Amino acid sequence: MTAVGIDAIEIWTGKLKLDLPETFAPVKDEDPEKYTKGLGLYASSFPDSYEDIVTMGANAAHRLMERKGLTPDDIGRIDVATESAFDNSKPVSTYIAGCLEQVYDGDFHHANKGERKFACIAGTQSLDDAYNWIKAGRNRGRSALVIATDTALYARGDPGEATQGAGAVAMLISEDPSIVELSTEQGYGSADETDFLKPNQQFPSVDGKRSMQVYLARMREALEDFERAGGETHPGDYVFGPYHTPFPGMVRKAGLFAFRHTIRDTDIEEELAAEIGRQPREDDYDDREAFEEAIRGYMDDLKATDQYQEWYANTIDPTLRISREVGNWYTGSVHIARASALQYAAENDMEMTGKKLLVGSYGSGAQAEIHAETVQEGWEEELDQLSIDEQIRNRHDLTYEEYEQVHDRHNHDKRVELEDFTEPENEFVFVGRGDMDERT
Ligand code: CAA
Repeated sequence: MTAVGIDAIEIWTGKLKLDLPETFAPVKDEDPEKYTKGLGLYASSFPDSYEDIVTMGANAAHRLMERKGLTPDDIGRIDVATESAFDNSKPVSTYIAGCLEQVYDGDFHHANKGERKFACIAGTQSLDDAYNWIKAGRNRGRSALVIATDTALYARGDPGEATQGAGAVAMLISEDPSIVELSTEQGYGSADETDFLKPNQQFPSVDGKRSMQVYLARMREALEDFERAGGETHPGDYVFGPYHTPFPGMVRKAGLFAFRHTIRDTDIEEELAAEIGRQPREDDYDDREAFEEAIRGYMDDLKATDQYQEWYANTIDPTLRISREVGNWYTGSVHIARASALQYAAENDMEMTGKKLLVGSYGSGAQAEIHAETVQEGWEEELDQLSIDEQIRNRHDLTYEEYEQVHDRHNHDKRVELEDFTEPENEFVFVGRGDMDERT
């Protein structure tokens, strides 16, 4: 069976930076460590005045196509995942294809285009669509372009404000991929939830604390479903666990939660039994409250063990490096977590070919998905091409007043005239200010 998976990745960050401990915390009168230690975030990315979800997506896709020497004829499908769309009818992929057609001979008239929506999990759902399309043999030798692009803004004063971010991830899904092969086993956890909504509004209505509980509940269901599908979840089977990262503090919780779940009835639980006991079983308790109390105590003990600390440092922490500096990218977030881990592996000369990743995606509303990926031979060469670290370093550092203007401008307030903080270089820029968007 031909392997299908991710052949190339490009990442494009919004070119502006809001420093959380230095710039945001003093104005909010908060201890900077609430952001750096509590949420695990140092900065957020924002788009410059000439950037939006289309330009960021098109620039990431263009860079990917140039690097891989592709023309429109090589691409049979363009799927965009976003929860920041500005058009309820015409998909963002058509705008992005329109940009790309300005710089290539040829067009994408032959390509199937769409827009996927299910909050942050839509990026992974688009990967799945592309995978299924290729596996079904409908691709006629061509690849799919999946672009996850978002401007994740919250209302000023909302607790989510510290977790904002903006950027795009473009991925090429092909046969015989160079980075990772996607597995056939998959698990889902899905329920009708109202933790995070954007009913025709720019800023989400979000119940932050509840959204964290829903994330963990759906992840548990997805892990169980993945196991039912024949997927292995033993912590030793995976080198990295890239999860959806709204902020690294959430992944710290998800990591502990997943570890506890996946060591149940394994050699690891056996080893830890002498130190902290076995996990409480629900059947041993008369009421749910007592059981939950016992689980909380067990988790506190588990978190303090060397085994867990070591697993977390090796398997989860390397996935958070980019996210710490750019914030939440919604649909792109789990995909920058994967890239972050593989960059770490390359820097540390880790032998990764044939090794596995356990990828956990999540979208509010709510759905989680777990799947495994196997790293392919060309991974290091592909990851070496990423310029995300340089992009992060080159962002313009906003003052708080500048941040307020940027925030207003990207809230579609056209009265806010915003200067360009950075110089566009050989890239798609947003030039429209009227009813119709124009881009060059
Ligand atoms: N030093 C160290 N740590 C500190 C601290 C200090 N001075 N002050 C606070 N902290 C810690 C807190 O203890 C807390 O950690 P724990 O949760 O481990 O206890 C952490 O910093 C955050 O502090 P608060 O809980 O007080 O923060 P908050 O209430 O202001 O905001 C939030 C937290 C509700 C999650 C908010 O960021 C939010 O609404 N975010 C948007 C929603 C979100 O991202 N939800 C995640 C799941 S949903 C999802 O994943 C989809 C998606 O992308 C949106």
